[in-house]
Amino acid sequence: MRTLKFKNNDEMPAIGLGTWKSGKGEVGKAVKIALNNGYRHIDCAATYGNEAEIGEAFSEIFSEGKIKREEVWVTSKLWNDAHKKEDVIPALKQTLKDLQLDYLDLYLIHWPVAFKRGVSFPENDEDYLSLEEVPIIETWNMMIEAKKQGLVKHIGVSNFSSMKLEELMEETDDNPELNQVELHPYLQQNDLLEFCSKHNIHLTAYSPLGSGDRIDAMKAPDEPSLLENDVIKKIARKHGATPGQVLIKWSVLRGTAVIPKSTNEGRIIENIQSMGVNLDEDDLKEIAELDRHFRYVTGEFFVTKGNSYENIFDDDDYKA
Ligand code: A2P
Repeated sequence: MRTLKFKNNDEMPAIGLGTWKSGKGEVGKAVKIALNNGYRHIDCAATYGNEAEIGEAFSEIFSEGKIKREEVWVTSKLWNDAHKKEDVIPALKQTLKDLQLDYLDLYLIHWPVAFKRGVSFPENDEDYLSLEEVPIIETWNMMIEAKKQGLVKHIGVSNFSSMKLEELMEETDDNPELNQVELHPYLQQNDLLEFCSKHNIHLTAYSPLGSGDRIDAMKAPDEPSLLENDVIKKIARKHGATPGQVLIKWSVLRGTAVIPKSTNEGRIIENIQSMGVNLDEDDLKEIAELDRHFRYVTGEFFVTKGNSYENIFDDDDYKA
C-alpha cells in the first residue's frame, strides 16, 4: 500500500475507508470488513453520527489481537459547532470516547465555518458565529493544543481553499499538515494541489466516486456521473478493472490519499484492490481532460441569507 509520509515519518495509507453516509447498523460491519481485508486507514467525523458504532467495531477488532491500534490510521473531524476555544478539546474527547480510542492519528477542522454550540445544521442566520466572534486561528490554536496534549498525532483542515490556507498560515507557525477536500476527475483542483505540495500539506480526496448516495437535497439536477463516464468506463475495460477502481487509483497516482465510502463487502474489497490497477500515460492524459470544475458538495447548505459566510467560497480554485 502506498503511504503519505508526515514530517515525523508517520505514514498514512493512501486508501482509507470513508464513513460519511454509512448508516447505523451497517457502518460497524463495514469497518470490520475493511480492516479484515487490508485497510489500515478509517476516515470518520463527529457529524456523520456513527462514531459510537465504529468505536464498537474498533474495540472488537483490537481485542481479537490480530490487528493492533497502532497499525491503523484513524482520522476524525471537529464539527462546526465546536470552534470556540473552550469547545474544541471537549468535542475531541467525545469523539475519542465514541471511537473507544485514546488518541487519533489525525484531527481536522471540518469546515471553515462556525455555528453556535449545539447547532448540527444551520437553519437561519442566528445559528452562525461570525469570523469576528470565532476566528479560525482561535480554533487552530486549540488543535495545536490537542496535539501537545497527545490526544492527536497530526492536525489539519478540511474544505479549505488555498486562500483560506494562506490566511491561516499567516497567523501561525504550525501549519496544517493535511487538507481534506473534494477531489476527482471532474474537480481536479490542480492549483490547490500545487499550492499544497509547495507548502508540504498533504491532501485527501473525498467523494472520489461522486458520492451518489447523498440525500436528494444535496444533489443538483442532472449532475454528471463519474462512475458512468464513458472515458472512465473505457479505461476500466482496458485494464480489466471497474470504474470505481480507476477513479481510486487515479487519486493515488496524484499523490493524494483517497477515502471511497462503501458498506458493501464486495465493493469494500474491490476498492482496496484498485492498488493493483496500472493506469498508463494515455489514461492519465484522457482523465486530465475530464476536468470541469464540478463540485458535488457545494457547501451551499452553509449559506443562509445574510450570514457572514456568504463569500467563504469566493476564491477561484474553490468555485464550483
Ligand atoms: P455502497 O456503499 O453501496 O458500496 P463516495 O466515496 O464518492 O462518497 O461514493 C460512495 C458511493 O459509491 C456509495 O453510494 C457507494 O455505495 C458507492 N460505491 C462504493 N464503491 C463503489 C464501487 N467500487 N463501484 C460503484 N459504486 C461504489
